[in-house]
Amino acid sequence: MINFPSVLESIEDLSFKQINDLMELAKKFKGYANDWQGLPIPFIKTPIIATSFLENSTRTKHSFAIAIKKLGATYIDFNAETSSLKKGESLEDTLLTLYSQGVDLCIIRTSVSHQLSEFKNKPPIKIINGGDGINQHPTQALLDLFTMKEIGLENLEGKTITIVGDNYHSRVGHSLIDLLPKFGVNVILCGPQECLPTNLEGKITEKITMTTDVDEAIAQSDLIYLLRIQKERHQGKEASYYETYPQDFGLNLDRLINKHNKKIPIFHPGPANIGVEISEDLIRSQYYFGNEQVHNSVFMRMAIIQAVLQNQDKNVGIKFDGRSIQDLC
Ligand code: NCD
Repeated sequence: MINFPSVLESIEDLSFKQINDLMELAKKFKGYANDWQGLPIPFIKTPIIATSFLENSTRTKHSFAIAIKKLGATYIDFNAETSSLKKGESLEDTLLTLYSQGVDLCIIRTSVSHQLSEFKNKPPIKIINGGDGINQHPTQALLDLFTMKEIGLENLEGKTITIVGDNYHSRVGHSLIDLLPKFGVNVILCGPQECLPTNLEGKITEKITMTTDVDEAIAQSDLIYLLRIQKERHQGKEASYYETYPQDFGLNLDRLINKHNKKIPIFHPGPANIGVEISEDLIRSQYYFGNEQVHNSVFMRMAIIQAVLQNQDKNVGIKFDGRSIQDLC
């Protein structure tokens, strides 16, 4: 893939063509899903790939780990809790250490928004963002787009997708806002006033609108994407909408089908809080596609890993091979 970034921080790092190429590659990998014997190993040498999750994760970390193994690469689970990061070492020096040991790519999750930006200018190692603070989660948005296409929404032009929940604090939401309008989708951001983003400078166009009226949004939607209320990002402050959120914004079969007659797909990146943003009856119903998202995540992450690794970026890495003390004179 031409000029694929060595540090994939955000959807905005990718061209429209690269996004479409990723969709095709993920589809190819999915085609091998039941026959891994036949999978052509795409690498000349066996790459070494580390994940470093500085924040909790179930889905993202394990789907990367499985994608790495299916690609035939060597997987290192770098445990930040027991590493020198806990002794005050910087992330840059930690990455340099991993690079010096032969790690080709590191997938990082961090609670600090934009922490990975600096590595675009002086990258010690190739990086994929596995979610940074409230900023971006590009691989989640890409696998969501892939899933939409896989379930039959091949042409998204003119479709309306409502993202209901804590849009303000959601890195998934922020990546979807960057991705979906490129494919002609009208995006409605919906939630209590406190959950609507105020930090979308320049992004609010006729393709992206906001509302606090969930019923009005559902009525216009072709797909609904639910987000969790991200309490861990509310800095301990209780919000007044917590208690009435299930009645005001929660989705259940009664609201979706009886009230709106909307037989449409419901997406969720997980983890879902059953009884808050989604009811038990809806999550167990045919309308819920969260498990398809998880299933497809492996193929999309295989595609992204391959694209990052096959990029021959000469600026990545510190040159130390062949150095001797004579160079110091
Ligand atoms: C999301 C995340 O961590 O940003 N989950 C995920 O990656 N599947 C969403 C969330 O935590 O609510």
